[in-house]
Amino acid sequence: MSKRVVLAYSGGLDTSVAVHWMGKELGVEVIALAADVGQGGDFSAIEDRARAAGAVEVEVVDARADLAAHYVAPAIRANARYEGRYPLVSALSRPVISAALVDAARRYGADAVAHGCTGKGNDQVRFEVSVRALAPELEVLAPVRMWGLTREDCIAYAAAHDIPVQVRSDSPYSIDENLWGRAIECGVLEDPWESPPADVFALTAETATGERSFSLTFDEGVPTALDGRALPLEQLVAEVGAIVGPYGWGRVDMVENRRVGIKSREVYECPGALAILAAHEDLEGLTLERDVAHEKARLEPRWAELVYDGLWFSPLRQAIDAFVESTQRHVSGEVRLTCSPGRCDVAGRRSEVSLYDYELATYSAGDRFEHRHAEGFVRLWGESLSTWARRQGGAG
Ligand code: ARG
Repeated sequence: MSKRVVLAYSGGLDTSVAVHWMGKELGVEVIALAADVGQGGDFSAIEDRARAAGAVEVEVVDARADLAAHYVAPAIRANARYEGRYPLVSALSRPVISAALVDAARRYGADAVAHGCTGKGNDQVRFEVSVRALAPELEVLAPVRMWGLTREDCIAYAAAHDIPVQVRSDSPYSIDENLWGRAIECGVLEDPWESPPADVFALTAETATGERSFSLTFDEGVPTALDGRALPLEQLVAEVGAIVGPYGWGRVDMVENRRVGIKSREVYECPGALAILAAHEDLEGLTLERDVAHEKARLEPRWAELVYDGLWFSPLRQAIDAFVESTQRHVSGEVRLTCSPGRCDVAGRRSEVSLYDYELATYSAGDRFEHRHAEGFVRLWGESLSTWARRQGGAG
C-alpha cells in the first residue's frame, strides 16, 4: 500500500473529504495539488481548505498557459468536437492535470496519485489512463469510487471531522470549467426532455442587441490576434467569449455517449471555443488543398474520440497530430465574424496564402479559366459510366 499520495484537489466537497478519508482509512500522507486551468475561484481559500482537511503539503499549479499552448491549440488545429459538437472542454484539462500530478509525485517522492472522480464518468478514465501512460510505476487511487458515501454522507463526514466545505446545497449541478469552456451536468438536466434552466448558464445570455463584427488572425492554424491586437491564446479565448456570449451564442445541449457506456445529457457553454473553431474551420476552406482538406476531415472525429476517451498520451493521437500539424503550415490569415442576437457567423475570410484564385473563379470579365480544357476532362470523368450504359444498360 502506498504511503504518500498526490491528490488532484478541486476544493470541493468530495476532494476535501478525500484528503481526510485517505489519511484515516488508507493511512497515507496526502499532498493536495490544485491546478489552475482557468476555472476561476480563490486559490488561497482552496489552499487553506486543503490544509484544514489534513493535507501535509498543498501546491497550486498554474496550468493555464500549458493547457492553452499544448492542448487547446492542437484541438483548434484539429477542429476538435466530440460527436461533432462537444469541444472537449473537460477532456483537454485532464491530461494537463495528470501530468502535473505525476510531476508532483516525483518531486515529493510519492508512490501514488489520486483523483476525486466517481465510477460513472469519463474523467476517471482520463486521469488513470494518462497517469499510467506517463508513469506506470505509480498507483492511482480513486477514493470516491472506494468509499460508497452519498452526498449527504460526505456532508456529515465533513461536519464530524471539522473539514471546512463550501456546500452550495442550492446548486444541484455538477460543473466543470476551464479556459476552453464550461460543462454542466445533473439536476433537472438529467431529464433529456427538460429545457436547461437559465441558471445553468454563466458565459452566455442574450443581453446584447444590434450587430457586432470582429476579426480573428490565425498563424499556422492558431489564433493569435483579435481585431489586430496580439493576445496570448488563453486571453484571446476569454475575450472572444466575452464578445459572443452576450449574444446568447455558444451553447451545446446534447445527449452524449460516455466511454463507460452510459448516455448522458450534457449542457456546455463555450462561446469563445465555438467561435474560434468556426473561424479556423472556415479559414481552412480557403487555404487547404482539396485532398488534404478531405483527408483531414476524416481524421478529425478520430482525434476528438481519442482525446475524449482518455487517450491523449497515446501514439495514435501523436501520429494524427503530426499529420494535422503538417497541414497547418498555410492556415494563416484573417476571419471576420458577425454577431447578432442568438447568432455568430463567419462573414468573411482572407489570406496571403489563399488558394482561392479570383481569375479561375469569376464569371465576369477577367476570367482566365480554360473552358476548352473542361470538355475532355468531363468526358473522361464519365467514361466508365458511358461504357456501363452502352454494355449493361446503365441507370436507364
Ligand atoms: N461529459 C463531459 C466529458 O466527459 C463533461 C464532464 C464534466 N465533468 C464534471 N465533473 N461535471 O468531458
